[in-house]
Amino acid sequence: MKRDFLALSQYTKDELDALFALTKELKAKQKQGVEHHILKGKSVALIFEKSSTRTRISFEVGVFQLGAHPLFISSATSQMGRGEPIRDTARVMSRYCDGVMIRTYGQEIVEEFAQYATIPVINGLTDLFHPCQIMADLFTVMEQKGSYEGLTVAWVGDGNNMANTWIEAAAILGFDLRLACPRGYEPDKNVMEWALARATSAITITHDPAEAVRGADVVNTDVWASMGQEAEQKVREKAFAGFCVDDALVALAKPDCMVLHCLPAHRGEEIADSVIEGPRSAVWDEAENRLHVQKAIMATLMK
Ligand code: CP
Ligand code: NVA
Repeated sequence: MKRDFLALSQYTKDELDALFALTKELKAKQKQGVEHHILKGKSVALIFEKSSTRTRISFEVGVFQLGAHPLFISSATSQMGRGEPIRDTARVMSRYCDGVMIRTYGQEIVEEFAQYATIPVINGLTDLFHPCQIMADLFTVMEQKGSYEGLTVAWVGDGNNMANTWIEAAAILGFDLRLACPRGYEPDKNVMEWALARATSAITITHDPAEAVRGADVVNTDVWASMGQEAEQKVREKAFAGFCVDDALVALAKPDCMVLHCLPAHRGEEIADSVIEGPRSAVWDEAENRLHVQKAIMATLMK
């Protein structure tokens, strides 16, 4: 049976820990120049229905480092952009490739793709989840703090795909998560219900950034308008006033806190330039770790 990576909720704590352990091993091998062609001779399709810098590059490079061949496929220049059904594309690609990553809009699109594909499917971001990113974020936390156990993570901003995925991670892995979102921009209700039904840690939502950040080990934010929400930018700028991760807000967290942002960032909106460029920022390690965690995910699913 093939296994997909569509949402963290498909995985247990032990399985995610195994992915982190493999990430550490593969990162060390890559740094030491030790060949690790775990997917030698295979081909991995990378489908994009939305823009990307990090996801595209880290997957292309990661596939190459695993000894496999990456295929960048833009929906706009494939038949997907002309309405070929997802289920047909999934079955055809399964005849050529050994795995596929998709970045798209609805979570139901990756689910349908995975249902019809006979090869592993990885979610490279949907409107609902961004699981590869949160794996990279957590791996960065583990590198710098030793573990995610016993930590408090603060989320400041939109209750978006990143926030939803943090909620799943907190419920599975058992760290505390405090989200501060403007009214009307809270995370997905079903995701929150799922998490609260199983979490052993505290997962809370507030409308006050200071309340979420006070004493936190990790402070995390993201753009106010995600891909596909560009038309809402002006309305969101008003709604998110007071939700900028600036020096005053970070000063409320632990003195050794880490600041994360999945990037791309809008300096002066969700994060101050002095914070993203400051000593607490771990955003470049976070971006690098996309490469290493995704290699571990692909190696596990496609070998
Ligand atoms: N963080 C992230 O997914 O970046 P891209 O949109 O550039 O892929
Ligand atoms: N929430 C953002 C993340 C980008 C990596 C978006 O979906 O556009």
